[in-house]
Amino acid sequence: MNVNHVDLTISAVHPDQYPSTDYPEIALVGRSNVGKSSLTNALINRKNFAHTSSQPGKTQTLNFYNVEDKLYFVDVPGYGYAKVSKKQREEFGQMIENYLTQRSQLRGVIMLVDGRHAPTADDVQMYQWLAYYELPILVVATKIDKVKPSQFTRVQKLVKDKLEFQEKQPLVLFSAMSKRGKEDVWRWIEEQTGV
Ligand code: GTP
Ligand code: MG
Repeated sequence: MNVNHVDLTISAVHPDQYPSTDYPEIALVGRSNVGKSSLTNALINRKNFAHTSSQPGKTQTLNFYNVEDKLYFVDVPGYGYAKVSKKQREEFGQMIENYLTQRSQLRGVIMLVDGRHAPTADDVQMYQWLAYYELPILVVATKIDKVKPSQFTRVQKLVKDKLEFQEKQPLVLFSAMSKRGKEDVWRWIEEQTGV
């Protein structure tokens, strides 16, 4: 999709703050610092519209980005961030779980993993959980600019093996620097949302 108009409609914590539109929604999930906000920016052709940071834990609310009055990207706080308190982590977990399990507008989830490393136990748990709820999932291995092209096949196999991929589970290798994989991600989003 050719994106010209985007706005941050709401940073929500409670379901009653979610937008009241019926536009389809695509959520982005993954560990803190994996690159969710960077992927959001790449998809909407902006540099730092969704705030990125080298400090993990930057995104702490569900951020609904209205794209062309057609769909929402929902940037979800990262999991696996050790520095937040246990209570905060539980509140985050509840907020994310409520959204992912109860939002009828949600059409699919983009789950990011760090392409430089094997998926972590948190990643495995998140993937299994999404699969259990039968949400359409696109796995994106990001920061792939840090990996030699000769290693791409190994990365793909590692991610598939660790997450115990469902049959036909799509996987895209992505870089926010080079924008590699961006068109594939958009194609998947268009398939899920019909935009
Ligand atoms: P939280 O909001 O804290 O959960 O983080 P996030 O998942 O939104 O990550 P964010 O997009 O803020 O990126 C974290 C750091 O990784 C930043 O320093 C980005 O510049 C860097 N980064 C993100 N994507 C890429 C990528 O594809 N390649 C490289 N080399 N760096 C990346
Ligand atoms: Mg973020």
